[in-house]
Amino acid sequence: MVFYSLITGSSGLLGKYHSEALLQINHNVVLTDKNLDQLKKDVKFFKKKYPQKRILGLKMDITSKKNILSVLKFLKKKNIWINNLINNAAIDAKFKRDSINLNKFENISLKVWNKEIEVGLSGAMLCSQIFGNEMVKKKIKGNILNIGSDLSVLAPNQSIYMGNKKKLTFIKPVTYSVIKHGIVGLTKYVASYWANKNIRCNCLSPGPVLNKQSLQLQKNLKKTIPLNRLANMNEYVGSIKFLCSDDSKYMTGQNIIIDGGRTIW
Ligand SMILES: NC(=O)c1ccc[n+]([C@@H]2O[C@H](COP(=O)([O-])OP(=O)(O)OC[C@H]3O[C@@H](n4cnc5c(N)ncnc54)[C@H](O)[C@@H]3O)[C@@H](O)[C@H]2O)c1
Repeated sequence: MVFYSLITGSSGLLGKYHSEALLQINHNVVLTDKNLDQLKKDVKFFKKKYPQKRILGLKMDITSKKNILSVLKFLKKKNIWINNLINNAAIDAKFKRDSINLNKFENISLKVWNKEIEVGLSGAMLCSQIFGNEMVKKKIKGNILNIGSDLSVLAPNQSIYMGNKKKLTFIKPVTYSVIKHGIVGLTKYVASYWANKNIRCNCLSPGPVLNKQSLQLQKNLKKTIPLNRLANMNEYVGSIKFLCSDDSKYMTGQNIIIDGGRTIW
């Protein structure tokens, strides 16, 4: 039996940092994403940087139970067992030109609602169900880490999207709130359900990460954050190492919020 950590949405902005955090604490990793081109580049990059480590890259769409099961089957054939899962994937959050109207609560369509919930919430449930159940069946000491957001406990303050012409440039859709609050519910449920099976489940809730936001948005956001800045991309690495190792072995069902203090205001 060889143990690996599996990360969903590993090719995104934070997924790469989560993957590297795990490599640094000597985990073998299965990087998964639906974006195969980027995934291939990431595997190449990490194999070059960490030549001694076991690194696999597999295309996996978390909205497809069939696809997740085929990944599981492939891994089992290679005697690879997942003892640590990070549910990190999220729907591509594009600031589309038409997103203001589409994202208005009164306009949100059931199609958009279902699609977004499918990725952010159902995908995390399916991966937890499938990989968690294998941990249970094989009596593996397992860990599941869900990625939430400061919006797992806060309602979005839409005024941060006010542009310099005093016009809203974006509206955070209701789906994001529902997904991220739901992720905390999923975390507590799984933590409690499998507590006696040696499986822990926690949630890491990051605040906004600095990444090409407009200067106006950065300025508006900073005003809502006591530390008066957005997070740097690498500022969750330490918490990933903590939450995915025995350093947190007495912790389960918790939502750890790392947000520059945003949720205390
Ligand atoms: N970036 C931030 O500021 C921030 C802040 C708080 C919380 N978060 C949370 O952190 C996590 C990662 O965020 P990010 O900024 O890296 O996002 P990102 O959009 O950069 O990456 C998400 C990844 O998920 C993948 N993905 C999308 N749909 C998928 C599917 N159906 N199956 C498999 N993979 C799929 C995408 O291809 C992408 O690589 C998310 O859960 C997000 O909500 C991010």
